[in-house]
Amino acid sequence: MTLRLGDTAPDFTAESTKGTIHFHDWIGDSWAFLFSHPADFTPVCTTEMGRTAQLANQFERRGVKPIGLSTDTAEEHLKWIEDVNDTQSTTLDFPILADADFNIARLYDMIHPGESETAAVRSVFIIDPDKRIRLTMTYPMTVGRNFDEILRAIDALQTSDNRTCALPADWNQGDDVIIPPSIPNERASELFPNGWEELRPYLRMAKL
Ligand code: BEZ
Repeated sequence: MTLRLGDTAPDFTAESTKGTIHFHDWIGDSWAFLFSHPADFTPVCTTEMGRTAQLANQFERRGVKPIGLSTDTAEEHLKWIEDVNDTQSTTLDFPILADADFNIARLYDMIHPGESETAAVRSVFIIDPDKRIRLTMTYPMTVGRNFDEILRAIDALQTSDNRTCALPADWNQGDDVIIPPSIPNERASELFPNGWEELRPYLRMAKL
């Protein structure tokens, strides 16, 4: 199944390290960061799980619930979490979905046969409180994800939603934002009272 931005994230019920999860109910009014891994007890995955655990406060500040997935059982995940905590000096407290039968991996198109027929690639789905897929990333098995970029992308999505703006290349919190070309200057004056610089009629950089 091909999932596109704006699609409703497929709902599912699955076991996890925190018990049975009904995905949409579990998301509730939060955002979700769903990320898959090829397998438990593997080195790159161990660092990614640890990094997510270390960033728990950063996700919480943004109203985002992390949830991992690998195509192993909840019992294996629970043993692996001990290694993650030990080697990455953290306490992993978010759920990891059990997907030994590949049900969720197939639902979310996480199996890329050119990489592996039997394990998920490193997929990311950022899902909003309306359960819409807002951002995806796909990394190969050998390359760990950049969690600064994941947080930056979440900040950008939430800023775009809350402030009716777009964000330029390499934007970070506090940087100028872009006034979308669809917004006429009169409306922009209401939305961006701190003013803007007009580099071109289609490129207006505003301070928030
Ligand atoms: C890893 O997490 O290190 C890994 C997992 C599967 C294939 C290659 C690397």
